[in-house]
Amino acid sequence: MKNTAEKIAKSMKEISVAEFFEKNRHLLGFDNPSKALLMVVKEAVDNSLDACEEARILPEIIIKVKKLEENRFRVVIEDNGPGIVKEKVPSVFGKLLFGSKFHLGRQSRGQQGIGISAAVLYAQLTTGKPAIITSRTSPKEPAYVCHLKIDILKNEPVIIKEEEKEKFREHGVRIELEIEGKYTRRHQSIDEYLRETAIINPHAHIIYYTPEGNKIEFKRVVNHLPPLPKTIKPHPHGVEFGIFERMLKITSSRTIASFLTTDFSRIGRDTAVKICRKAGVKPEAKPRELTHKEIEKLYRVIQETKFIAPPLNCLSPLGEEEFEKGVQQVVNPEFAVAVSRPATVYRGNPFKVEACIAWGGEISKEGPAQILRFANRVPLLYQASACAITKSVQQVNWPNYHISREGNMPTGPIVIAVHIASVWIPYTSESKEAIASYPEIIKEIKLALQECGRKLAAYLRKKRKLQEKELRRKLFERYIPEVAHSLSVLTGEKEKEIFKSLEILANKNVMKEEKGEKT
Ligand SMILES: Nc1ncnc2c1ncn2[C@@H]1O[C@H](COP(=O)(O)OP(=O)(O)O)[C@@H](O)[C@H]1O
Ligand SMILES: [Mg+2]
Repeated sequence: MKNTAEKIAKSMKEISVAEFFEKNRHLLGFDNPSKALLMVVKEAVDNSLDACEEARILPEIIIKVKKLEENRFRVVIEDNGPGIVKEKVPSVFGKLLFGSKFHLGRQSRGQQGIGISAAVLYAQLTTGKPAIITSRTSPKEPAYVCHLKIDILKNEPVIIKEEEKEKFREHGVRIELEIEGKYTRRHQSIDEYLRETAIINPHAHIIYYTPEGNKIEFKRVVNHLPPLPKTIKPHPHGVEFGIFERMLKITSSRTIASFLTTDFSRIGRDTAVKICRKAGVKPEAKPRELTHKEIEKLYRVIQETKFIAPPLNCLSPLGEEEFEKGVQQVVNPEFAVAVSRPATVYRGNPFKVEACIAWGGEISKEGPAQILRFANRVPLLYQASACAITKSVQQVNWPNYHISREGNMPTGPIVIAVHIASVWIPYTSESKEAIASYPEIIKEIKLALQECGRKLAAYLRKKRKLQEKELRRKLFERYIPEVAHSLSVLTGEKEKEIFKSLEILANKNVMKEEKGEKT
C-alpha cells in the first residue's frame, strides 16, 4: 500500500496554466479552426477597444486576415491606442493570467488576463510561429518590436528577437500571428463579430481586409467616447467567504472597523462597529489576528445586514440614442427604438441592461428574429441557447406587441439586440460566450424588451392606420370618374367641374382624418 502511495507521489507535480490551457484550449474558445480564427481577432480587438477607452482615444482599428495556404492564415490587428510599455510587452503576450483588469472593479471587456496570450499560445501550438508585437507609447520614442513565444512548462515569455522601429504610427499596438484556421462568412464569423462590434461601439472606426481581398469599413457614427467608468470597492454582499478571508489577510487597515469601512463600499463607521459587536469581535482587533470562528461570525453578520446598493458609476452603458445609431448604421431598418434600464444589482454586483429593437427596412422578413447578444460592449456569438438573453427573449409575450411567434421565438423582420454592462459579468465559462441566468438579470432584460416592444407596437399601430387611410382614399379616387359622369348626366353640369370638386372633397376628408376629425 505504502509502496503504491510513494510511487504515485513520485509522479505528482505542479501543472502550469499554460500547459493546462494548451490541453484544454476549448475552454478558451479555441476548439475548432473556424472558431479559433474568430477568437484571435476577437481577443485582440476587445483589448484594443478597452485600451483606447481607458486612454480616452477614439478607437481606430485595422484588421487584416490573409490566407497563406489551405487552413493557414496570417492575422494582423493594429490599433491607435496608448501602446504598452516595452517592459510589459513580453508578459502581456507570453504569460497566461497576466493583465490589468482582474482586480479592477469596473466595467471592461477583458477580465481574466488570459485572452491575448491564449491567442499567442494557439498560434504557437498550431504553426510553431512566434507572435510579432509592435508597440509604441509616444511619437518621441521609436516603436518596440518583439518576436516572442511562450515557455509552456513555466508559463513565461521567451523573447526570440527584439528591435526598434522608427516607422510606425505615433502610438498604438500591432499584433501579428500565424495560425491554423478556417474562414467562413456565416453567422459565427469574423465578419459577423465585427458587424456586431460596430453596432455596440458606434464610437469606433473599424477597417477590415478580408481573406478574399475585400475592404469592409464601419465608420464612426458617434463622435464621443463612452464615459470612463469609476473603479469601485466590492459591495459587502458581493464577496464570497474565501475572498473575505483573504481580504483580511492582505488588508493594510489596522483594525477590523477600519477594514470594513475602507475595503468595502457602503459600510459606514457606525455600521462597522455595530457589525463587530453583533459578531462578538472587538472593532479595534487586528484583521490578521481573527480566529476562523470569528471570521465566520463576522461574515455571517455582514450577510444578514442590510446595505444600500453599490454605487453605479462603475458602469459605462451605451445610451439609448447611441444604441439606436449603432443599429441603424449596420442593420438599416425602417424603425429602431432603444431602452436603457436603470442600473441595479445581482449578488452585490452592479449591472445595467439596454435593449434595442429594429423593425423592417433591410431586415429579412423570413424566419426567426435575429437576436444580438452583447456583454460589456462585446458581441456574444456562441452558446445562444445557454444565455440569459435568449431565455429572456423567449419569455416575452411577443404577440402583445404585434410580433408573431413560432414556438417561443419571435419571427418576422425584426432584430432584437440586448446589452448587459457590469463590473463582473457572470459568464457561464472562461470563453465568455453566454451569460448565466441570474433571476435579477432575466427580470431586467424582460423589462427592457417589453418597454421596447410597447414602443414598436405603437409605431406599427400608427403605420397600419395610415395604410388603411391611404387604401380608403385610393378606393374613393378610383370611383371619382364614374360618379362624376353619372352626376353630370343627372344634373346636366359639366363632368370636368364635378370631377374636380370630388377630388378636392376626397383630399379634404383625408386631411380631416389626419387631424382626427370625423368625416
Ligand atoms: N492593444 C492593447 N493596448 C494596450 N494594452 C493592451 C493591449 N492588449 C492588451 N493590453 C494589456 O494587456 C493585458 C492582458 O490582456 P489580455 O490577456 O487580453 O487580458 P484581459 O483583457 O482579460 O485583461 C490587458 O489587461 C491590458 O492591460
Ligand atoms: Mg483581453
